[in-house]
Amino acid sequence: MINRVKGTYDILPNEISKWNYLETVIRRVFSSFGYSEIRTPIMENYDLIHRKNDSSDMVKKETYDFLDHSSRMITLRPENTAGIVRAYIENKLYVSNELRVYYIGPNFRYERPQKFRNRQFYQFGVELFNANSSLADVEILSLVNTILKELKIDAKLHINSIGDLETRTIFREEIKNYFSQYKEDLCPDCLNRLETNPLRILDCKVDNHKEFFKDSPKPLDYLNDASKANFNEIISILDKNNIDYIIDKNLVRGLDYYDELVFEIIADYDGSKLAVGGGGRYNHLVSSLDGPDTKCVGFACGMERVVALMPEVKEEVLDCYAIFLDYKYYDDELLSNLRNNGLKVLSNATILPLKKALTKAFNENPKYILIIGEDEYNNNSITIKENESKLQVTVKKDEIYKIIKEGIKK
Ligand code: HAM
Repeated sequence: MINRVKGTYDILPNEISKWNYLETVIRRVFSSFGYSEIRTPIMENYDLIHRKNDSSDMVKKETYDFLDHSSRMITLRPENTAGIVRAYIENKLYVSNELRVYYIGPNFRYERPQKFRNRQFYQFGVELFNANSSLADVEILSLVNTILKELKIDAKLHINSIGDLETRTIFREEIKNYFSQYKEDLCPDCLNRLETNPLRILDCKVDNHKEFFKDSPKPLDYLNDASKANFNEIISILDKNNIDYIIDKNLVRGLDYYDELVFEIIADYDGSKLAVGGGGRYNHLVSSLDGPDTKCVGFACGMERVVALMPEVKEEVLDCYAIFLDYKYYDDELLSNLRNNGLKVLSNATILPLKKALTKAFNENPKYILIIGEDEYNNNSITIKENESKLQVTVKKDEIYKIIKEGIKK
């Protein structure tokens, strides 16, 4: 037997209703905020993902890279933002004023597989291009909150500011100096981060409960006046509009392109914290990929995690199961008419004796079972059985709609 690839999973038909419901809700909410869908390729050129100066673990260690038959170096997208920025520049979408796009789709990261950490996983998210004001940041945060509310997910918005490039350069040195004093106590990953990406130490789940961690420098204390004013502005709008948030001074993101506002959506799951989504402002990604100076903000959520946190959704009811006792009695017009009346209808795909066919039909739990055998066929009639009451009548074909609407009377 050939099994699925490690770190991947199947979404089976009995699990799909939550996924479908999720997609319906997010498409509705995104559209109500004026966002249009964008679909970019799953494969991108290696250089788009492996950008110079990007030292994030994701880009360094977790991408699926391969040479195609023409020796082009290709990468399966580990996230959507870079591909969408490429599409923005390549298709000159910057001619429009602001651009609001959303996406839903798979991503690939070669991570150690565990619960909610897959090598193929799905994200939905948005990018708002060419919007530099705190109003844009708040729009995104409000969008996140609306989606959580619509899906009845209990999660908190954690926000922070990592300032601009200048702030981060100063802060990087500060944090390097600070944690260098505790080299013996740092976990192996953080020892490595000390050289490659010191900011990420703040986000370490292994070291963050250690005593020396509490007094470490925090980005908020190093913001210059402009970044401080921007962050305060965002907070004051959130407060005024009763949008809930928590300031998390240790919050830094796993990707390297962020400036200023960063945020994560955190939920409790099975006694631990689960990052459902994250995002923030990125003011230099477009220009670093040779596009015009364009300031942006966006977020993405992991759909497996969102689905796990959503309450169960009601299964669609099966209205009718039609049993044709012989292939000669098959009636396509009957099935079409029922479906055109908005009913969900299944019919037998195997010819079986009545008893076995009924057992099979009951397994699907329809509201009504329609039986069409020789007598019914010859008399232009249908036997209809109500699942709940088990009452049964034989009626002329055109009378079944009334019965389906009103039920079988005793
Ligand atoms: P990210 O934090 O890397 O951000 O991913 C967003 C969400 O995707 C995470 O919070 C998590 O729920 C989910 N996720 C990430 N990796 C995995 C995995 N291996 N298995 C399952 N779920 C996973 C981004 O991707 C940014 N592009 C977000 C963004 C958009 N920033 C600005 N615009």
